[in-house]
Amino acid sequence: MLALDGGSGAAGPRDPLKWRHSFTPTNIMTQDELKQAVARTAIDYVVDGEIIGVGTGSTANFFIDELGKIKDRIKGAVASSEATAARLRGHGIAVYDLNDVESISVYVDGADEIDAGGAMIKGGGAALTREKIVASVSKRFVCIADGSKLVQTLGTFPLPVEVVPMARAAVARRLTELGGQPRLRVESGTDKPFVTDNGGHLLDVAGLSITDPAALESEINQIVGVIAVGLFARRGADVCLLGTGEGVKTLSF
Ligand code: 5RP
Repeated sequence: MLALDGGSGAAGPRDPLKWRHSFTPTNIMTQDELKQAVARTAIDYVVDGEIIGVGTGSTANFFIDELGKIKDRIKGAVASSEATAARLRGHGIAVYDLNDVESISVYVDGADEIDAGGAMIKGGGAALTREKIVASVSKRFVCIADGSKLVQTLGTFPLPVEVVPMARAAVARRLTELGGQPRLRVESGTDKPFVTDNGGHLLDVAGLSITDPAALESEINQIVGVIAVGLFARRGADVCLLGTGEGVKTLSF
């Protein structure tokens, strides 16, 4: 469960979150500004001379932009998607194939939802499978998110499940039996299935109230035809840098 950073006071007795990096906002911050703030703070977790695992999505993109500024301090990065690889290369950061890397000290990525135990829903950006793979070989998972992503119970955000295309109807039936309402993700403005970097299709499963994320992750992983489920509970976050209008809060799990 949530472990608190040392220190006192600033967050107040009703707020279990404590401060590590804080700043005084001069105005109301936009969601993008909150994402930028956590991306900047995440640079503190980068280990000099090493290969960094990098996630996918708008928050991860801000992190890549920050990483570009200190690129001479790192050896390179392993990307969790083709889009991330392209952005890293655009900043002149060497992108390594995971097959050539034994372990990664730190993985930095966003989330669609995170709970007080560090379990997450991910995959809104369609990269859940590669994100899970890179996270699995990383010693530390640093989640960067704006404050809206912290939830009491996972499941308001539809849970992405990547499937082998021929199995998508069969998997959808099983997910319905589990109480969900799966919906095939389509290319925007069309009725064509969205195709992931791995050639998979995505089912976004609404209507789940996920009280035991690790158990549901295991259960969905057992369904034949599932490539990966966007529940990151068995390997959840170690740290979450949460952007709020009052500063970046650090949650340790
Ligand atoms: C991509 C992801 C992203 O981390 C998640 O969708 C959050 O995205 P954003 O930072 O744009 O809010 O899991 O597959």
